[in-house]
Amino acid sequence: MGDKHRVRFEPVGIEIEADEEETVLDAAFRQGVMLMHGCKEGQCSSCKSFLLDGDQQMERYSTFALADYEHEEGYLLLCRAHAYSDLSVELINYDEEMLLSGIPPRQVSTTVTAVEPLTHDIARLTLALDADGELPYRTGQYVDIQVPGTEQWRSFSMASLPGDGLEFLIKRYPGGLFSGLLDGLRLPVGAPLTVKGPYGTCVLREAPERDLILLAGGAGMAPILAQLRALAAAGSGRRTRFYYGARGAADLFALDEIARLGAALSDFAFVPALSEESSQSYEQGFVTEVLDRHEGDLSGSDAYLCGPPPMCDAALAVLTGKGMPQERIFLDRFTTSTDI
Ligand SMILES: Cc1cc2nc3c(=O)[nH]c(=O)nc-3n(C[C@H](O)[C@H](O)[C@H](O)COP(=O)(O)OP(=O)(O)OC[C@H]3O[C@@H](n4cnc5c(N)ncnc54)[C@H](O)[C@@H]3O)c2cc1C
Ligand code: FES
Repeated sequence: MGDKHRVRFEPVGIEIEADEEETVLDAAFRQGVMLMHGCKEGQCSSCKSFLLDGDQQMERYSTFALADYEHEEGYLLLCRAHAYSDLSVELINYDEEMLLSGIPPRQVSTTVTAVEPLTHDIARLTLALDADGELPYRTGQYVDIQVPGTEQWRSFSMASLPGDGLEFLIKRYPGGLFSGLLDGLRLPVGAPLTVKGPYGTCVLREAPERDLILLAGGAGMAPILAQLRALAAAGSGRRTRFYYGARGAADLFALDEIARLGAALSDFAFVPALSEESSQSYEQGFVTEVLDRHEGDLSGSDAYLCGPPPMCDAALAVLTGKGMPQERIFLDRFTTSTDI
């Protein structure tokens, strides 16, 4: 353990203690303070804030997340910053509702209960917690899974609802350190996996008066399916539109479940968009183009987005262009650990 310092967040006036050896974001997690974050690895910029006062040093990060000129102006990434004196930090993005309701992450032991192929490159992984383990989380959050035999961790969003175990939808990259193990051979039923969490702020907010746009690409389906499961369980009356981007019809999955969940909602439509194939049954184009064609004014809607970073960035532009307030857009960019 190193020296400890106080970190004060403005304009909310919350204070935490941070050890020099932990990042400010980890210190906040530990104390149940839920700051805005995404990747936790200096790649997505969700935790970008402004240093008002104090000395800090950042671990390695991507200049996509924090450009050099922003660093010079005083911006910092809380997931990379270590406090070397008391700090005063201005939060750029924060959600008053979430700030003091964080669930401190914990590490648990699990075993694999199933690995099932859903498409040619997406698999469902389900894990059971060991008998005395508990992992509370909120709908739409993610955990880090340790790659067996290494010190590396990979982030995966739960498609499951809290209390229903741990279900993940994972895109398989040949040669991918973790996803490459999901070929049906290397991660057999019964294999132990260490899991740490929960993390993430793409959590379904109570806002019955606001319409909903759900948008995902590829394995970004996972947290969005969780949102849909929660909305269906609650019999939500919110107008809900789910846009899903895939390359071709063979990349679509969970269609029966989505139809079943949609039937429990009073105003729901599922709009799959195929970017590399034309079909009588589905919209053609990038999912963000299809969203743009279908939706008008979105100032009264909330959006939840998950998937590849370019899709998230394009969706942000379309949604804000249609009047959706930036603070009502909740997203997880599925950055990869090899991006820096
Ligand atoms: C908050 C968050 C939530 C996430 N949730 C999910 C989820 O629910 N499901 C899911 O599938 N993933 C999710 N990810 C991504 C996941 O954490 C891994 O980064 C991904 O599975 C690749 O890890 P790997 O170990 O298999 O590949 P790595 O060993 O990290 O990569 C090996 C190689 O695979 C290729 N590769 C890996 N990723 C990509 C890519 N995106 N595009 C092109 N080539 C690539 C590259 O050639 C790379 O060099 C999430 C990421 C974040 C930050
Ligand atoms: S850059 Fe800090 S959470 Fe992604």
